Amino acid sequence: MDCEYIDLYLMHWPQAQIGDRVLKEDEHPTFVDTWKDMEKLLETGKVKSIGVSNFSIKTLEILLPHCSVIPATNQVQLHPCLPQFELKEYCESKGILLTAYSPFGQNNQLFFKDADIIRIAESHNASVAQVAVAWAVQRGTIVIPKSANVDRMKANITLIQLTSEEMDAINNIHKKPGMHRSLLTEYFAADHTIFGWSLEQLGWSM
Ligand SMILES: NC(=O)c1ccc[n+]([C@@H]2O[C@H](COP(=O)([O-])OP(=O)(O)OC[C@H]3O[C@@H](n4cnc5c(N)ncnc54)[C@H](OP(=O)(O)O)[C@@H]3O)[C@@H](O)[C@H]2O)c1
Repeated sequence: MDCEYIDLYLMHWPQAQIGDRVLKEDEHPTFVDTWKDMEKLLETGKVKSIGVSNFSIKTLEILLPHCSVIPATNQVQLHPCLPQFELKEYCESKGILLTAYSPFGQNNQLFFKDADIIRIAESHNASVAQVAVAWAVQRGTIVIPKSANVDRMKANITLIQLTSEEMDAINNIHKKPGMHRSLLTEYFAADHTIFGWSLEQLGWSM
C-alpha cells in the first residue's frame, strides 16, 4: 500500500472465504480467530485502529466476549430506508461507532423521490444528498458518501442543520409502505444467501 501505517483496518464481512469457498460459522478461521489476529496488528504500530463491517447484533454478541480491543466501528449499510435503530443503540451501548455506508442508497433510487425528503431539501435550498448526510451526522453516525464528481463532493460535505421535526420525518421514511429497503435484497433473492451465509446466520432481519 506504500504507506507507513493504516488508520483503520476493517474486517469486511463476518464470513471467511478460502478460494471460492465460504466457510461455515464454526469453521476456522472464524471471525473471532480473525479478530484475535487483527488485535495483534495494533502492537506493530502499522495499524492505528481496528473495526468490523456488516456485523449484526447477533454476530457482535458472539465476537465481543472474545475481544481485548472493542471494535472502533461497525460499518454497515445505513440510510433513511435502513436506519438500523436497534443496531445503533446496541453499538452505542458497547462504545462502537456506527459507520453509514451507501448513505445515498448507491443508485439514489431508494429514497431520493420520497416527498418528505424532497420537501426538506427544498426548504433548505439543498440537495437530497445533503439532507441524507446531515441526518446521518446529526444522529451521531460516521457517514462515508461516495462521489466521483467534484461539484457533488463539495456539496455533499457542506452540512446543513435539520430541525428535530425534520429528523423525525426522515426517521419515519422507512415506515412508509414498501420503504424499508436494503441494497442487499437482490443478492438475497438470487439464492437466499448473502455472500454464502443466510440472513439468519448473518443475524440480519429484513
Ligand atoms: N463495508 C461494505 O461492505 C461496503 C459496501 C458498500 C459500500 N461501502 C463503502 O461506502 C461508501 C459509499 O457507498 P456507495 O458508493 O456504495 O454508495 P453511496 O455513497 O450511497 O452512493 C454513491 C452514488 O451516489 C451518487 N451521488 C453522490 N453524490 C450525489 C449527489 N449529491 N446527488 C446525487 N447522487 C449523488 C454517486 O454518483 P457520482 O459518483 O456520479 O456523484 C454514486 O453513484 C464507499 O466508500 C464504499 O466503499 C462499503
